[in-house]
Amino acid sequence: MKKLIFCTLLSLLLLGYSTAFGRGFSLDVNGDQATINLDKARKQTLWLPIDNSAKEVKMRVVGSSLFTEPVTVRLAEKSVDCWMPIYLDKSTSQIEIAGCRPEYVAWENLRIGKNPNPEIEDFRQHIHFTPEIGWINDPNGMVWHKGEWHLFFQYNPLGTRWGNMSWGHAVSRDLVRWKQLPTAIYPDSLGAIYSGSAVIDKHNTAGFGKDAMIAIYTSSYRSANVKCQQQSIAYSLDKGRTFTKYEGNPVLPSSRRNFRDPKVFWHEPTSRWIMPLACGQGMEFYSSTNLKTWKFESRFGDKHGCHFDVWECPDLVELPYKGGTKWVLFCSITKDAAHGSSVQYFVGDFDGHTFTCDTPEAYTDWINYGRDNYATVTWSNVPDGRCVALAWQNNWKCCSREKFPTVGYRGYMSLAYELQLVEYEGRAKLVARPAREYDNYFKRVVLEQRGSEVVGEQDLCRLESQGRACRLTFDFAELKAREFGVRLSNDRGERVDIRFDRAKRELRVDRRESGKVDFNDKFPSVSVAPMSAADEQSLTIVLDRASVECFTDIAAVSNLVFPAESYNRVEVYAVDGSVVANVEVACGK
Ligand code: FRU
Repeated sequence: MKKLIFCTLLSLLLLGYSTAFGRGFSLDVNGDQATINLDKARKQTLWLPIDNSAKEVKMRVVGSSLFTEPVTVRLAEKSVDCWMPIYLDKSTSQIEIAGCRPEYVAWENLRIGKNPNPEIEDFRQHIHFTPEIGWINDPNGMVWHKGEWHLFFQYNPLGTRWGNMSWGHAVSRDLVRWKQLPTAIYPDSLGAIYSGSAVIDKHNTAGFGKDAMIAIYTSSYRSANVKCQQQSIAYSLDKGRTFTKYEGNPVLPSSRRNFRDPKVFWHEPTSRWIMPLACGQGMEFYSSTNLKTWKFESRFGDKHGCHFDVWECPDLVELPYKGGTKWVLFCSITKDAAHGSSVQYFVGDFDGHTFTCDTPEAYTDWINYGRDNYATVTWSNVPDGRCVALAWQNNWKCCSREKFPTVGYRGYMSLAYELQLVEYEGRAKLVARPAREYDNYFKRVVLEQRGSEVVGEQDLCRLESQGRACRLTFDFAELKAREFGVRLSNDRGERVDIRFDRAKRELRVDRRESGKVDFNDKFPSVSVAPMSAADEQSLTIVLDRASVECFTDIAAVSNLVFPAESYNRVEVYAVDGSVVANVEVACGK
């Protein structure tokens, strides 16, 4: 017994020494090849020093059960921006890196054990999901299941720029507080894991089990001579905590390069699964009875809408309209659309085979007129049948280069929206409003005012946000002013101006002086949305640490902002005349 205690103490001491005083690994750098030999294979975390301006090098984590394929990292060449974790399992003994140099500062900055990233929380949002570490883009696989809102997302766990696409995972019970869980799906021999959806298989159509959560995603393969995208599936029987990839993947094989982002839903009238898929500059529809074999149904869009770039991230939802229903097809366009990355939509009908559009071919409308709202898709299996959507709160034009204001993580999700169709100028228009779940959050009323006349510029209130998000609600009536609006600012003079222009029938959100804007020349900008001709105008502004989302009766405008300090001053104004306003300002507790 004594011997056992002595041996245990000794090994604990030695283990402590190797991590506390030794580095826990040895390094062998030879020309452009490096090997990190781990002292003792055990569960631990190796922290890789990353430099966002460095070129990518290839890395192989030998024996890893997570990173089974080579990954790419921007290993620190000259300086360290942050550290990214590699979770090592017991079977991982070595990491091989190709394409590096002996003089990289990375070598002396490798760490084992505790997270070496300094806590820089400047632009952490409060009610907008943000990853703890790493890069995120599109929301994926959103599904409500057993009381949890699941959010999977495009994730680079090894950098703060795009790469190594995996599905990250977070859950929430109230859409306000999010908990990030371990990465759900890692790249495999079929390629990176691109965007897709998740469904609950209530009738066990796929045979993985009743109520299995099934993820349908794009396997995106790239090598020197082959680039192709195919659709694959994986299932979870433990509430999305672990996924098993189907051994028959890909379920929809293809050699096409732009063939991605399956958003599957159950079509009750034909008792089949329908998969809208983005294919070049159009959307295709596939059907299946078991999620494992798919049949082509039809293609839409070659002549419709905006065609600045390939189409991405479809969704097809049925919404109530004028006593019946209409189908709405979402379509994201990456670059050079009117506002950079943005999401257009088409209203029409879907019979289980073909989508027919109500609007003329040249007609385009957008779900959100702001700069930071992309890849919008909806949750499946929402218990009360509401159409609840989420977008990536970013723009490919501004986020993917070397510089960005956040450190160690990059990317946010939007608020969750409830979507509805309203009749506007003779057409069905899609309108987004913050989900009702946020009402439970905005409980600390800071100001309530009824019927106050606004003439010229007036201070409305000081915002003591206490690090929380705030919601400002305005009902403007008796509109006599030519222009009127709201200005949010801080003591440094950084500001966002939200202005209704009655002559032009526009809502303009100006972030040119909003704070840090010089990290990308496309960032300082004015977003323009239509304004209805109604005699009264409503405006809801949700202000979080790094974003301003605005909602009127017909438009949503969502933008990122990076003020040095949160905006704490609210002004209202009216130009050439007056307006009358009812106001409520409330913040999170
Ligand atoms: C949209 C997108 C998708 C693709 C994913 C890759 O932002 O380009 O089409 O699946 O990002 O990360």
